[in-house]
Amino acid sequence: MSQFNFQRHRRLRRSAGIRAMVRENQLTTNDLLYPVFAVEGQGIKTEIRSMPGVYHFSLDTLKVEMQEVVDLGIPSVILFGVPEHKDECSSQAYAEQGIVQQAIRMIKQEFPQLVVITDVCLCQYNPAGHCGIVEGEQILNDASLELIAKTALSHVQAGADIVAPSDMMDGRIAAIRHTLDEHGYTEIPIMSYAVKYSSAYYGPFREAAHSAPSFGDRKTYQMDPANGREALREADSDVEEGADFLMVKPALAYLDIIRQLRDRYELPIVAYNVSGEYAMIKAAAQNGWIDEKSVVMETLLGMKRAGADIIMTYFAKDVARYLQEGN
Ligand code: PBG
Ligand code: ZN
Repeated sequence: MSQFNFQRHRRLRRSAGIRAMVRENQLTTNDLLYPVFAVEGQGIKTEIRSMPGVYHFSLDTLKVEMQEVVDLGIPSVILFGVPEHKDECSSQAYAEQGIVQQAIRMIKQEFPQLVVITDVCLCQYNPAGHCGIVEGEQILNDASLELIAKTALSHVQAGADIVAPSDMMDGRIAAIRHTLDEHGYTEIPIMSYAVKYSSAYYGPFREAAHSAPSFGDRKTYQMDPANGREALREADSDVEEGADFLMVKPALAYLDIIRQLRDRYELPIVAYNVSGEYAMIKAAAQNGWIDEKSVVMETLLGMKRAGADIIMTYFAKDVARYLQEGN
């Protein structure tokens, strides 16, 4: 008997059954979006040094990987291309026989039910390693839009279900929407990397995609990590221009932004659990310093609690397995 009147919050934590009844958020396999890297060649499955468990796949090995993804019940993948050839016009980004275009056709033929999303950007495809057209030290905005829209169109023509522009040029959603509509693709959604920060967490990805900038950095187009209100302006523009999904990237250091977008819009919100976030957990787990499964599940659950509907994560296959095992 307590002497004072106080709240006994512990009553709702007494048993696993009660805890399950009152659980507010949960991760499901349907929430997962799995990023994969496609490379040219044959028989290639090369692990990325700073991302243990993540690989470069040629089309044949990619097929095996996609079968696993389908078997695990993961509904969607997002493709990143790592082309052999780079040039000033980023021509492999929109080539009919580009690596991403080939990968889309293969996946849609083998696994028609799998939702194929494509990352739309130029940085892997030009020697400068920037997300737009470079002139001197400048990254041109309007001139880049045409190539970005052209790239998105070529992905859709190859069979992509959704396109996801990640370049952070202004006006790209409008440009892509216009180009797709003009070609009759009015039903193809755009998943905008609406709020993408200029982040050190992209390090392992740039190694994986061979897409580090050859000069300067991405601060003139990607956002300043210090800014929160600006994220809302970015997202407002993309919503106005016709985005169907809004992504926040990275996720972990930007959970406040995920929450604000969730509260402000009715569109699905995507959290991108980026390469550096993956690498940190992997490294600590491999040292035996943390328990990988528990930390992964807690981290991704935090993204859902912050308001994400979809989590783009290199852990997708692991999480699908954990969910099957039941935690
Ligand atoms: C660039 C791009 C980046 C990532 C994917 N596409 C960021 C960048 O290099 O600036 C990062 C993804 C990750 O770290 O997992 N268009
Ligand atoms: Zn880019």
